[in-house]
Amino acid sequence: MYHYTSVFSILACSWLASAFTTTNVIPNVPIQSPKVQELSGNSIGRTILSASSSATDGTSESSDQNVFGEASDAFTGILFSLLHAFDPDPIGDSSKNLRVLWARALLNTLGMIEDDVASTFLPPTTRGMVTSKGGASLFTPIVQFTEWIQARTDFIDGGLNHFLTSPLCQSEDDGEPMPCNAILIGAGYDTRALRFRNKHGGKIQFFEADLPDVCEGKQTLYNKFKKEEDPSLKQSTLIPLDLNVFDDPNVDFMKKLEEAGMDTSLPTFLCFEAVLFYVNENAINNLMSSIFKYAENSKNGELMLCMTDSLKPAVDVPFTNAARNFFDENNMELLEHRSRWGGAVHFALAGSRRYSFESEKKKLQTGVLGNHVRSRVPQLVNSYTPTQSNNKDLIKNPSFDNVWYAVAYPWQIDGFETPLDAAMAGYKSNPTSNAANKKPYATRYVII
Ligand SMILES: C[S@@+](CC[C@H](N)C(=O)[O-])C[C@H]1O[C@@H](n2cnc3c(N)ncnc32)[C@H](O)[C@@H]1O
Repeated sequence: MYHYTSVFSILACSWLASAFTTTNVIPNVPIQSPKVQELSGNSIGRTILSASSSATDGTSESSDQNVFGEASDAFTGILFSLLHAFDPDPIGDSSKNLRVLWARALLNTLGMIEDDVASTFLPPTTRGMVTSKGGASLFTPIVQFTEWIQARTDFIDGGLNHFLTSPLCQSEDDGEPMPCNAILIGAGYDTRALRFRNKHGGKIQFFEADLPDVCEGKQTLYNKFKKEEDPSLKQSTLIPLDLNVFDDPNVDFMKKLEEAGMDTSLPTFLCFEAVLFYVNENAINNLMSSIFKYAENSKNGELMLCMTDSLKPAVDVPFTNAARNFFDENNMELLEHRSRWGGAVHFALAGSRRYSFESEKKKLQTGVLGNHVRSRVPQLVNSYTPTQSNNKDLIKNPSFDNVWYAVAYPWQIDGFETPLDAAMAGYKSNPTSNAANKKPYATRYVII
């Protein structure tokens, strides 16, 4: 059995390396290339809700790869058919979601994330190569390539925990958990809905949207989980949905969620995890507009948007001020932000702003969720380096782990759109910094 596991482990090492070194994410290089290194309660059997879809093969109009990426994907596709050849509950791959699942099981075995569900989704005959100590140790040389999966899992779990502890999700009288929505878009074979199923008094109404084929696969996994692990499971509502349908401006994203059973009076946590790379830009624009319209409507419960995803086409640079402007312009408040790969991926937490009518003047204000979360997350910074950071530990021990470094002009770091804006505003950079005053175009930080 151990030999069997080892053979698969060697095969999988090459797969995992290629899976995480090739990506559909095309890093965006802004004017000054930043040097970035980050080093429902439904019961089983309930009908999967249906939303119209034109694509079921898991391919995307937006995914764009070079010939090596395509060759690597073809190769890893063969490896996956081997890994799942004897799976009594077969599930298909879609936009790399199977390899993310395997990586999560591996990271759990290595103690890098807490996910005791991922391995239960894997075929019993082959899962040993990532769940046994011997098998998992073979992956240590390449485990660094899974860091982005670990980082996004931590970010989203953290955001969800902040949301759940907010006054909107807990009773004012006795602190008891109150019902709320958690919506995972492009959920794939992500395990979050199961990992959180017994948290918050079981009052989180989970909705998971993905392509129809993937939802079918997920239902298979949920049936298996209910039978083998948790007979009392109340599973999430699965929403088979091709996000490219929002290319048509007459199809409303938030309405689709409402039609799927989302209670709009409840506070809502809405998460996009590594899915928008695969969706066409027009559809993304339309679905974001629908979210913004929903978020500012005081008839709806407050919304918290959590993204570990592309913000294109609206934001195609890594800078926090660009992300903040985007949310400001759309009446939402950016609460936490960082980016990686030159802005190809943003980790962003944003909350609804609501109108108040103080002194008869209509004014947009931070929502309850925003006020709650803002004090619990790191303050927004336009940029930071080991020489300028609000993280004292980082200055003492500079690191490439989970940190990004930007080479940028001071006016960019300080939030101006253009050097002209900075000059017009009589720009003076922070006198405590090493920037040359009145020289908004001088390079302030260079990391070598
Ligand atoms: C990289 S996987 C991420 C899966 C999951 N969020 C996770 O982290 O485990 C991308 C997911 O996006 C889904 N996806 C790709 N294109 C889509 C589309 N047009 N509509 C809905 N989902 C899509 C894929 O099926 C896949 O499950």
